[in-house]
Amino acid sequence: MADVFSRESLKQFASDKRAEFEQTLEKIVEIPTVSVEPDRKAEVRRGADYALSLLESCGAKATLHKTDGHPIVYGRFERGTDLPTVTVYNHLDVQPAEGDDWKTPPFDFVRQGDRYFARGTTDDKGPAITALFGARYAWENGAPVNIRFLWEFEEEIGSPHFESTIRKHAKDFATDSVVVSDTVWVSRTRPAQPAGLRGLQGFRFELQTGQTDQHSGTAGGAARNPVTEICQLISECVDGLTGRVKIPGFYADVVPPTKKELDDLARCGFTVSGFKKDHLYKKLRVEEPIEVMKRIWMMPTFEVHGIAGGYQGPGVKTIIPPKATAIVSCRLVPDMNPKKIVKLVTDFVRSKNPDVKVAAEHALPAYQGKTTGPYADAVRSAMKFGFGKEPVFVREGGSIGAVLSMERVLKTPVFFLGLSLPEHGYHAPNENFDWAQAAGGMAAFADYFRRVAAMP
Ligand code: BES
Ligand code: MN
Ligand code: MN
Repeated sequence: MADVFSRESLKQFASDKRAEFEQTLEKIVEIPTVSVEPDRKAEVRRGADYALSLLESCGAKATLHKTDGHPIVYGRFERGTDLPTVTVYNHLDVQPAEGDDWKTPPFDFVRQGDRYFARGTTDDKGPAITALFGARYAWENGAPVNIRFLWEFEEEIGSPHFESTIRKHAKDFATDSVVVSDTVWVSRTRPAQPAGLRGLQGFRFELQTGQTDQHSGTAGGAARNPVTEICQLISECVDGLTGRVKIPGFYADVVPPTKKELDDLARCGFTVSGFKKDHLYKKLRVEEPIEVMKRIWMMPTFEVHGIAGGYQGPGVKTIIPPKATAIVSCRLVPDMNPKKIVKLVTDFVRSKNPDVKVAAEHALPAYQGKTTGPYADAVRSAMKFGFGKEPVFVREGGSIGAVLSMERVLKTPVFFLGLSLPEHGYHAPNENFDWAQAAGGMAAFADYFRRVAAMP
């Protein structure tokens, strides 16, 4: 089998399959599977039906599992019951794509040279299709391993039905290991092997102080202004300039990084100038590399995603609005408990402004991964095989709800073989993926499956 799984053979496979890869990615990104938008429910279902037929067209057995929300699609390349089983997790739902900053329509697949633009190209449809092509290669060339696909359509809303669904099918979904392809490298020349993910606790703050808009000349001065009160509340929660969270006890459970982790950071190839370029920032809160890395990967945050309320049109409409909303979330790090953070934030808000209604949204604890042992070694070797470079150890700042659930329910270790780059623009306008990551990724995945197949 040595020849079939050589770098040369896989390069050839990728270039032979390029047109098919692009057609597949085009089909799937042009289905707007925005999980958070209730009006898109049928589109999400259409995406799941397409995913099912895609797996079938590749020779897999596939099933669609309904949940109380969006479905889960499960596919299997079966080889034999006595052989190891590896499950690939990806999500095929996407973030909303509103706003004027898109240079091309978000749900049109646009190819510019080696780059592919559209919502979902990098998060997470491109990596999903890449892993599928790598799996197909391994399977068609006889790697003695069963390969399964677990494709979720609710990741971007915190995976509310994932755990209960996989629990229901735990026997069916049983696997020896899971590999997740939904994380970001440090830079194009620095593949990453994440040692963990941050968690997330979302909130909506709502304040109503009136019934309708009122003239600010007749009522202003005496009337309460909900937008002003929400702004004050936010500024009591967090220092807007430094990002320091001011809620007492917020940092109590944060575990400081170990010496080894700090050494890994220092060696991981992260640069502040690269970070700024990739994310289109001119100035950051801090400019020292270690400090930036700690803040994006290892420290909790309190972030405001949006504030709504009052007049947004041209000119100055002199009203006092009746209502204001703030959408916020806290990134969590290991040992922080989402429930405890909900209580801390809710009690704090109540003490500052008892009229503000707090609703807790998705709750995901942080994840601590393994970077040693045969699977972690196989990920490293596969990355080196596919891209010519060993990955560096980092933590990831984002959150994937399904990871802890799979570990908990399937009682199996989870590893990461991510393919996205910072400049691909996760959740941003003009999101993109590129051929180099896809071609190297197919090789890396095929190699990974071959290595797992060869494990004692
Ligand atoms: N792929 C990301 C998670 C991620 C982000 C991993 C950055 C590594 C680095 C995932 O699709 C995501 O965006 N998750 C959401 C979950 C939330 C909406 C519940 C997140 O992190 O905000
Ligand atoms: Mn993702
Ligand atoms: Mn995402």
